[in-house]
Amino acid sequence: MRPLTVAIPKGRVSKVLVPYFLQAGLDVSCLLEDDRKLIKESSDGSLRFLLLKPDDVPTYVEYGAADLGVSGRDVLLERRYDLYQLLDLGIGRCKMAVAAPCGAVIPDVPRVATKYARIATDYFAARGVQAEVVYVQGSVELAPLVGLAHLIVDIVETGATLRENNLEVREEICPISSLLVANRTQFKLRHREIEPLVQKLRAAVDAGTASKS
Ligand code: PRP
Repeated sequence: MRPLTVAIPKGRVSKVLVPYFLQAGLDVSCLLEDDRKLIKESSDGSLRFLLLKPDDVPTYVEYGAADLGVSGRDVLLERRYDLYQLLDLGIGRCKMAVAAPCGAVIPDVPRVATKYARIATDYFAARGVQAEVVYVQGSVELAPLVGLAHLIVDIVETGATLRENNLEVREEICPISSLLVANRTQFKLRHREIEPLVQKLRAAVDAGTASKS
């Protein structure tokens, strides 16, 4: 049988993820190797990891190129994939928020710059605010500083980017963290392999949460 394939994001999240995998007793020494390989396999051949851009993880899982994946709630909310959400890993914690220049008066029909057009559109629509949402790819905090928008909707982690650009949180939309997701068909077909893995990861997450509190 082919190895269970897990799509994981390269970068910040993967560094936090590896200790959880190790604590769950998974053979992830391949992820500690400093190379440019995009497919890595555990030494016993039971697990295969795909190293992806974070935004691409759910796409690989939805199409079945990976059985499981680790994806931010922000990406899942924005693009609404057809996946099972198995476990909140509680890593990469941050929040989705509305921010504005400190003290700025916001018009009744604000223009909002964001990488998360759907989240922003739904959020303002639910509040009866007729916002004009403008899509930008990054450096979102710049938009209200130069007249592109009155507000932004973006991820706030430490708050440093907002502070250093003289912006402030006006409203919190939702908390964000990384979730373990599964392809719906593979979850049913490979349930016997996936379920124990989820249990081990859940125990590692619970132990990590307990040790922090
Ligand atoms: C993210 C996010 C904010 C920043 C928030 O940007 O879009 O800009 O991090 O983090 P902070 O609250 O700790 O300052 P990212 O670094 O991913 O780059 P981007 O602006 O290109 O999206």
